[in-house]
Amino acid sequence: MNHIQLDITKATSFLNEGAVKAYESKVKAAQKSLENATCPGNDFLGWLHLPSSITPAFLDEVQTVADILREKCEVIVVAGIGGSYLGARAVIEALGNSFAWLVNDKHNPAIVFAGNNIGEDYLFELSDYLKDKRFGVINISKSGTTTETALAFRLLKKQCEAQLGKDEARQVIVAITDAKRGAARAAADKEGYKTFVIPDNVGGRFSVLTPVGLLPIACAGFDIQALVAGATDMEKLTGPEVPFEQNIAAQYAAVRNALYADKGKKIEIMVNYQPKLHFIAEWWKQLYGESEGKEHKGIFPASCDFTTDLHSMGQWIQEGERSIFETVISVEKPARELLFPNDEENLDGLNFLAGKRVDEVNKMAELGTLLAHVDGGVPNIRISVPELNAYYIGQLIYFFEIGCGISGNLLGVNPFNQPGVETYKKNMFALLDKPGYEVESKAIKERLK
Ligand code: PA5
Repeated sequence: MNHIQLDITKATSFLNEGAVKAYESKVKAAQKSLENATCPGNDFLGWLHLPSSITPAFLDEVQTVADILREKCEVIVVAGIGGSYLGARAVIEALGNSFAWLVNDKHNPAIVFAGNNIGEDYLFELSDYLKDKRFGVINISKSGTTTETALAFRLLKKQCEAQLGKDEARQVIVAITDAKRGAARAAADKEGYKTFVIPDNVGGRFSVLTPVGLLPIACAGFDIQALVAGATDMEKLTGPEVPFEQNIAAQYAAVRNALYADKGKKIEIMVNYQPKLHFIAEWWKQLYGESEGKEHKGIFPASCDFTTDLHSMGQWIQEGERSIFETVISVEKPARELLFPNDEENLDGLNFLAGKRVDEVNKMAELGTLLAHVDGGVPNIRISVPELNAYYIGQLIYFFEIGCGISGNLLGVNPFNQPGVETYKKNMFALLDKPGYEVESKAIKERLK
């Protein structure tokens, strides 16, 4: 099997000679501390050997539940936020038809997402869309208490019960949550929903290869065995015994930290040339942003969809402050073939492209942009994916996860916690007079007077 490749030559040319090699011993130490569980956040390392520990029996169990939902539902609503949402959406969009929501597909239910915002219009419009549909719900929350998800789930549960009756609703609601704690667990046990457990030692943003990601992905009709096989192969390819020069995750972690620490490149822009990869970048932003952005440190993870954003952010990237570098995900072979037609009148002057694949034009846009941005002072890291299938997406997921684990260690932070996320919640609960927040409520209202 082929695998994804990393090219850092257009980034190392911006660094002093030997700058990446200088990270070798630190990267080795970081990998050792992950393996030996001596690193900060060592109670959240369940993701490290997760792919190779997933059994065929477990995948069968997930697939069986997915098949029931697929049979019973026209629409499946996946309720979750952050790590309980982005991985599933990223994989489903990367592998799916770009116009999936318009395709009248008798074989695959539509997968829609909720619980990731508190937009009243969004929730109203979702409810309206669902009102004449047979729909099921996958409620995903590790803590089981996240407001955005709990709020959406209450609305969805009531609607599902109203449309199907309580007994039938029970057959199409699945909860993915903690084994014991949280309101989602309590509700699932009381109602008798099918449940899957999110392991204690796997944090939200590292949970896409648990049922959090696997169940929605299987519901969408994609091959979770191949996804896990890809991740498992990448686990081997990036293990601590793999030599530094050959370990693409080690190289990625080293080069981005060198750009940050040595050259002041504080922003990494994840770039794709396939609109389907938009949510892969959203997932990656959460993975790296929530893992590294702490103690007033960390590369800011941004993303752009090219060529679309070349007509908006392209100017900034070419000529703005030189504090950025780009990481491009390039897909070698599109799944479909579309040849550009000849036109006798050639009014648009595009006959020079006649007979070429659209992807050839895209690839030349990519190469032209790479050269332009490097000439403009933007270091470039390139990740090449042979094709967009479940196997390679599995590789990409594990590559980014292990790269993040190593990179956060190099930065000297605990990559597996997110203490900063609590601050807005505390204020919101105080402002909403949540019981238990009386002191904070009084203080915040004083402050706003
Ligand atoms: O990565 C994380 O831990 C977070 O982004 C969580 O996934 C997110 O806050 C949702 O939490 P929960 O699954 O508890 O609802």
